[in-house]
Amino acid sequence: MDVRALLDGTGESDLDLWARTINPQFVRVLRTIGFDRRWARAEGAYLYDTDGARYLDLLGGFGMYNVGRNNRGVRAALIEALELDTPGMLAMGVTALPGLLADALLQRTPPRLERCLFTNSGTEANEAAFKLGRAATKRPRVISTDHGFHGLTLGALSANGNPEFTARFQPLLPGFDRVPFGDLDTLEAQLKQEDVAVFIVEAVQGKGINLPPAGYLEGAQELCRRYGTLFCVDEVMTGFGRTGTMFAFEHWGLEPDLVTVAKSLSGGYVPVGALLMSRAVHESVFDSMPHAMSHGSTFAPNELAMVAGLAMLHELEEHRLVARSAQLGERLLERTRPLVDEFDVVRDVRGIGLMWAIEFEGDGFAYRMLERAQRGLFAQLVVVPLFTDHRILTQVAGHDMAVVRILPPFVLTNDDVDEFADALHETVKRARRMPSSLTKFALTAAGIR
Ligand SMILES: Cc1ncc(COP(=O)(O)O)c(C=O)c1O
Repeated sequence: MDVRALLDGTGESDLDLWARTINPQFVRVLRTIGFDRRWARAEGAYLYDTDGARYLDLLGGFGMYNVGRNNRGVRAALIEALELDTPGMLAMGVTALPGLLADALLQRTPPRLERCLFTNSGTEANEAAFKLGRAATKRPRVISTDHGFHGLTLGALSANGNPEFTARFQPLLPGFDRVPFGDLDTLEAQLKQEDVAVFIVEAVQGKGINLPPAGYLEGAQELCRRYGTLFCVDEVMTGFGRTGTMFAFEHWGLEPDLVTVAKSLSGGYVPVGALLMSRAVHESVFDSMPHAMSHGSTFAPNELAMVAGLAMLHELEEHRLVARSAQLGERLLERTRPLVDEFDVVRDVRGIGLMWAIEFEGDGFAYRMLERAQRGLFAQLVVVPLFTDHRILTQVAGHDMAVVRILPPFVLTNDDVDEFADALHETVKRARRMPSSLTKFALTAAGIR
């Protein structure tokens, strides 16, 4: 097969092909907001369209390209593994690569975590946490937080704290309840019933980029220990340097019983996820030879994902990218926090490492009109010109939210950060005045839901 010839084929456009075969509504969204480019290639923090124009990618595929798109080191390791004709998955047998990656992950997490179970994605890692957590504790319930996001398969969706994702898919799994993020009293009221297997929480919530109030995560861990609930930190988005430490739980000195990872683990090349767990949890589920295969998935410990994972960790450490995420995050806040004082419409600028958001609010007539059409619509007035005028890719952080977020690759430069800060300043200034053409666009965009 000639891949180059396939990609160069002059038939139907990528967008038309997707609209016909995959998802026409998604293509409508892209066309409405002007994100309907034809993409040719990518490198580090940049995307290039077929006209050769360069775009600064601050979304990083929703935070899966921590080491940069098409990272050379990960790529070379994958090519080498392919050329070695490694044995692949044996089903009844084991090979070295999954063990090596499991060991590498466990060496980088607190000693409490001693076993690793590989999955194909973040949502599956969370499914495993719930399933194994129930069996290990012999308890039925799972508690999660409002606005939490843990994936979209049915179990993970049952822990989702955003009604726009859950409402149309009822009934979800029994035994799942939510508590407000940051509220220890409500959490304790649930945990003290002593029937909760797992409390799952993102250290920093991805939907809206919500940072935990002081003492919350430590308090939650303490309550979990007191009432016999497993404390699970979902690091699918925050893991591997996103918040400026290897794992976000390090900021608060936490020692979870369960940690889930995915996204950036394979450097963005191969689907992969993992559940890291205490020996006690593992041994109470995988407790005998008949139970040796209590959970798993055909492709989960696939060798390409394992090689990519090992190479991604090497890249992070070799190029000190975690420290770079912390440093660039500080620069980003320094450059963008002043917008809060400068513009009434900017309510907050927040972030940790390279997980950053700006939140808007307003009381003018036009702002209120937009908000009436759809909450958070003003954020589109920032995201769209950032893309079309400045060639910078950002995203509205969630439904019904006037929040724009970024999750860029860590290979960004100081100049990239400055370019974004300048473009943001100009865009917010213009959006505030809201020319009628933009308002009209935003109201059209409201109809694409
Ligand atoms: C915190 C968190 N958990 C879980 C998931 C689901 O991961 P995946 O998309 O790999 O299923 C995501 C995806 O965005 C996430 O941000």
